[in-house]
Amino acid sequence: MVNHDYTLDFGDKLLAFIRNIFKNHAEFRHSCLGLYAKFSPLWGGGISENERLKREISFQDGSQPINLSCPIVLAAGANKNGKGINYYQNLGLGGITVGTATRNFRIGNTHKPRVGLDEFNRLIHNSMGLNNDGIEKISTRVEKHKRKRKNNFAIGISVAETPGIAEQKRLQDLLETFSIAYKTADYLEINVSCPNTGECRLDLDTAFMSQAFSAFNEYRKTIPNRKAIYAKLSPDLTDKQLLSLLDLLSQLGVNGVILGNTHPSEKLFYSLPILNAQGTSGGISGRPLYENTFRKATLTKKHFPQLSVVACGGIDHGLKVRDLLDEGMDFVQVYSALAFRWMAVQKMARELCSSNS
Ligand SMILES: Cc1cc2nc3c(=O)[nH]c(=O)nc-3n(C[C@H](O)[C@H](O)[C@H](O)COP(=O)(O)O)c2cc1C
Repeated sequence: MVNHDYTLDFGDKLLAFIRNIFKNHAEFRHSCLGLYAKFSPLWGGGISENERLKREISFQDGSQPINLSCPIVLAAGANKNGKGINYYQNLGLGGITVGTATRNFRIGNTHKPRVGLDEFNRLIHNSMGLNNDGIEKISTRVEKHKRKRKNNFAIGISVAETPGIAEQKRLQDLLETFSIAYKTADYLEINVSCPNTGECRLDLDTAFMSQAFSAFNEYRKTIPNRKAIYAKLSPDLTDKQLLSLLDLLSQLGVNGVILGNTHPSEKLFYSLPILNAQGTSGGISGRPLYENTFRKATLTKKHFPQLSVVACGGIDHGLKVRDLLDEGMDFVQVYSALAFRWMAVQKMARELCSSNS
């Protein structure tokens, strides 16, 4: 396993300069990704279809395949509300996961700052707390964008239960959110591992997980167009926890897993100066996650070859994508790379193609 690195070019340095200007407005900077995507054709972005990058992910249970123009997909959280989705095609991405959406509008955590960047380690700390416009609005936007999208640009929706909801309403809340998203999305992601809402994580609550995923499966049977369901897991699970969870998810008919979400900050593997007292409830993303991502993803593929595995966490170089695809992953998801690398996806796609030839 190699944590492939890149040397900073002029664009990366320019991006670092822009990050520095807005260093006290990390959340604003974070929401500028949509503008960056919109105007990226002006600075050399754009969609150039490359046959060698195309992938079709098919499923033995008859779920509709996921068609990607490139095996690099934008991870959940970057476009939380489904606005301007099609601009993201300009970045060279093969698809996008919108959300995470909950049943209703959520303001998220109220402390500030909720996002911080560690320039030296190229990581992001986030404790936003699932802020989003609610699944109905988000699904409507996705539906509208789907009509205008180019071929092979997949749109998934990530959903989660409403944090803090009363015990007896949990299942209904999650199932409603799921079923609204299901009608629109190409694939579903169930975020069972959000570390920053202060509530219990679902991936540690196997009884409720069983109930929820059984209910999703029952719902799927009633809809003619079957879609793939992925569970997004936390990177801090021990190997034992991960394998037993995968066993359960396989029995519950899940098509795949995303490994993984942000790494809970309170279990950090080194101290992080940007964390403040309230921020410790959040998670970290970016380059330091990669080795764990690679290890967990390959472990999963080895023990559960029938599962579709999507690697996510610290992927910022095309050769990392190559290594993961070679190990059997179906595609990868990225987020932090776009904050630290100028035209990250195009560069990664180029590195991936050159490693093919
Ligand atoms: C600011 C921010 C917000 C995020 N929001 C979500 C979210 O709403 N749902 C989710 O499943 N993951 C969310 N994530 C996690 C990412 O989808 C991804 O799993 C994580 O950043 C690791 O990938 P990376 O190292 O490429 O960034 C968020 C990450 C960041 C940095």
